[in-house]
Amino acid sequence: MEAAKDIYYVGVNDHSIDLFEGQYVVPNGMAYNSYVILDEKIAVMDTVDAGFTEEWLGNLEKVLQGRCPDYLVIQHMEPDHSASIPAFLAKYPEAQIVGSAQAFKMMGQFFDVDLTGKQKIAANGGTLELGTHTLQFIAAPMVHWPEVLVTYDAAAKVLFSADAFGKFGALDVEEDWACEARRYYFGIVGKYGMQAGNMLKKAADLDIQTICPLHGPILSENLDYYLNLYATWTSYGVESEGVFIAYASIYGHTAEAAKCLASKLEEKGIKASIADLAREDMAEAVEDAFRYGKLVLACNTYNNSINPFMQDFINRLVERNYQKRTIAFIENGSWAPMAAKVMKGMLEGCKELTFTENTVTILSAMKAADEEKIAALAEELA
Ligand code: FEO
Repeated sequence: MEAAKDIYYVGVNDHSIDLFEGQYVVPNGMAYNSYVILDEKIAVMDTVDAGFTEEWLGNLEKVLQGRCPDYLVIQHMEPDHSASIPAFLAKYPEAQIVGSAQAFKMMGQFFDVDLTGKQKIAANGGTLELGTHTLQFIAAPMVHWPEVLVTYDAAAKVLFSADAFGKFGALDVEEDWACEARRYYFGIVGKYGMQAGNMLKKAADLDIQTICPLHGPILSENLDYYLNLYATWTSYGVESEGVFIAYASIYGHTAEAAKCLASKLEEKGIKASIADLAREDMAEAVEDAFRYGKLVLACNTYNNSINPFMQDFINRLVERNYQKRTIAFIENGSWAPMAAKVMKGMLEGCKELTFTENTVTILSAMKAADEEKIAALAEELA
């Protein structure tokens, strides 16, 4: 597949994976992307996961048609992209490896390979001449590891964006881009919004017609759509109007309160998205917390603290720099309800959070009076 002039896709689809990064469910698999630039000199952009080395080398061989690559550019050392470096070096011993100084340090940590005379360090702003194409390297630290480079090819107007603009899902499955790109972004890169935003600012001056990420499809149409979503996500902006209600419940009473709030919001024409944290994908809940501007946390008191699923959820938000949102609480307890206090305390370090005046406290089970309290909260959120 030609991604742009002289640039060919040689990546692979992984349908055998159960959990990406050992934690994210990927029902539609995963793609590990790699590209080849055929010019007077040949550059290969990144490798693939260890389970697909042979398939990738086969793809590469077909595109190379007997030629040998001059360079292997390593933009990111996470093993889903770097694991096939040793096999590449064994097959193409004359090729040079190009990467940041930190990438070479990690290569020494991951692999037992001799890189003497094969290392070409790429600094921010550095270039690599291939002939018609000149690669320009842009440091993108923490998008999503510190050694990351993204690469611009001015001749083809292509940005090789590393993990940025990636998504879950193999390339042979049709699915909505934003849904799985958002879950991927907030799950994996979300903590580093500022750094990802800095990378976007550096890229803003470039004439980009195609984005070649390390996961997900090559983007070449309607680029403003993707760039605008990334501008919102990296700045922790609100993407969709509405309220996200995340609940954890033992016997269903807290769930009943959460669902009651959702229906009262819907009656007012407010979009309400709701998730049971114990049963639904936590990464999906995290993306929804960042997607909407208002978040309601509904939880029972448990072991003098809160339900462990809610604890996990809030921890995930905090470690991803959750901010700029309106927060409300519904708590439930049978003798000493304290979930709202604990949840608020967990969010203490987050920037620019506004807490609603109404906090709903349920004592064991919903009563008619509780419905009135929930109606008041719905009114305030609306
Ligand atoms: Fe796709 Fe951060 O590796």
